[in-house]
Amino acid sequence: MPSMYTRLFAALCALATTANAVTTIEVKGKDFVNSKTGDRFQILGVDYQPGGSSGFTKDKDPLSDKDACLRDAALMQRLGVNTIRVYNLSPSLNHDDCASIFNAAGIYMILDVNSPLYGSYIDRTAPKSSYNAVYYEQVFGVIEAFKNYPNTLGFFAGNEVINEQSVKEVAAYIRAVQRDMKDYIKKNVDRSIPVGYSAADIRPWLMDTVNYFMCEDSDEPSSQSDFFGLNSYSWCGDSSYKKAGYDILTEDFKNASIPVFFSEYGCNEVTPRVFTEVQAIYGEEMTQAFSGGLVYEYTQEANNYGLVKINDSDTATLLVDYDNLQKQYAKLDMDRIQASNSTQTSFTAPKCSSDLIKNGTFLSKFDLPSRPSKVQDMIDNGLSKANTGKLVDVSTTAIPQKIYDHTGKEVTGVQLKALSSGESNTPGNSTSGSSSSGSSSDSDNTKDNAAGKMTASFMGLVVGAVVAAASVL
Ligand SMILES: *[C@@H]1O[C@H](CO)[C@@H](O)[C@H](O)[C@H]1NC(C)=O
Ligand SMILES: *[C@@H]1O[C@H](CO)[C@@H](O)[C@H](O)[C@H]1NC(C)=O
Ligand SMILES: *[C@@H]1O[C@H](CO)[C@@H](O)[C@H](O)[C@H]1NC(C)=O
Ligand SMILES: *[C@@H]1O[C@H](CO)[C@@H](O)[C@H](O)[C@H]1NC(C)=O
Ligand SMILES: *[C@@H]1O[C@H](CO)[C@@H](O)[C@H](O)[C@H]1NC(C)=O
Repeated sequence: MPSMYTRLFAALCALATTANAVTTIEVKGKDFVNSKTGDRFQILGVDYQPGGSSGFTKDKDPLSDKDACLRDAALMQRLGVNTIRVYNLSPSLNHDDCASIFNAAGIYMILDVNSPLYGSYIDRTAPKSSYNAVYYEQVFGVIEAFKNYPNTLGFFAGNEVINEQSVKEVAAYIRAVQRDMKDYIKKNVDRSIPVGYSAADIRPWLMDTVNYFMCEDSDEPSSQSDFFGLNSYSWCGDSSYKKAGYDILTEDFKNASIPVFFSEYGCNEVTPRVFTEVQAIYGEEMTQAFSGGLVYEYTQEANNYGLVKINDSDTATLLVDYDNLQKQYAKLDMDRIQASNSTQTSFTAPKCSSDLIKNGTFLSKFDLPSRPSKVQDMIDNGLSKANTGKLVDVSTTAIPQKIYDHTGKEVTGVQLKALSSGESNTPGNSTSGSSSSGSSSDSDNTKDNAAGKMTASFMGLVVGAVVAAASVL
């Protein structure tokens, strides 16, 4: 039977991890800011889509497998990321373990509300037929599933829906989806989780797209985007600010009134990727225009964009790209990246008007489709039988899988580091794992050392809790 002390200690550890929560992020002007400290928040992110888009089913999504999330959150912490984007989610699954693991790691989540399953997306060629109550079971279902997690940073109402194949009116449907999501959140969620759109980099329409979504329309005040994501792969290899056209993007987005970030970046025309664009994206020239970005993508899939190769459920290999990105993140000046700027936070949106739209092939009217009455009922009464998530204890921090580096050496001692309340992950915060030790007896030592490296703040919590518990006993 475990001693009284052991049981008390275990209980307190559970307590310590449960109590921890990241601070919610909000939008102010054209910046994301920490809602408590007012510090600027820039996205250091990866797109998280294990198995690719075809790996998603109704019964399995990227945030429903606890062991995989624990492994990936620990490896992402070590990499230096503070945000993931997840494309396809099934609202009926239990996401509590995964969301809580990423929360404990200080990693936020940006979630797409659509899925590729029939009825769960707006059809770009026939939007009217897909804009209905069945679709909103998916959209509001995802909001219900994720609304209670403090690390839910935002929701994407659509991803690259507007493209060369789409009909012109589709933009109005996306704006209507934003309106409906924001009205749902206002009525059924106790904080205002931001909503935005993720655009393809189609240069002739890019400014039309951002202007269309960010402008303020007094007839439909809740329909404007809170942020704008750009999927852009123009920096390939060891390119430059000018050669990659980042100078043009900076000029274009300097005046945007909402936060803009790369929702996908990381061209793979030159491999291995060196990620020199990281210094440009977070550098002085671009920082007014962009709030960081997400590298496409965390896992290695058939399209060859991965940082980590998941070999099977028991092993994973860190690819050269992982090391290269980690080195780039490590060079960043986080104090400058997090500095608040009152000019940035006081931008206001332009009024919607047809002269904001320059290309005749882009929609230049701002009327929106009206909301089906069943959707209005969902907003008024909340989605019925919704599966609503909540934070749970994260008691396991050791990861069960074996990790290898790109040379095939085992990386030992990788584990999740539960941050204290209010902290988010930054490059260099988690140094768990090393591949310099070879034998298995060494790996045990590394584990002990890692456990011994408990942070001062974590020990403070434990000591505080012991004192509190002692006074109760
Ligand atoms: C940005 O705003 C400034 C000041 O309002 C204006 O002079 C400039 O032309 C704008 N740039 C673009 C690309 O819209
Ligand atoms: C604050 O933002 C404004 C406008 O985006 C910019 O002109 C200015 O240089 C920034 N200030 C600092 C200290 O970075
Ligand atoms: C896992 O995949 C990587 C990259 O394809 C390969 O180099 C490595 O040998 C694999 N490891 C195992 C244990 O299968
Ligand atoms: C308008 O957009 C189309 C792409 O659909 C592009 O081919 C065309 O050059 C653009 N026209 C102008 C004037 O920018
Ligand atoms: C994480 O790193 C930042 C500086 O980059 C530091 O201020 C903070 O205390 C670190 N947190 C932990 C838990 O190590």
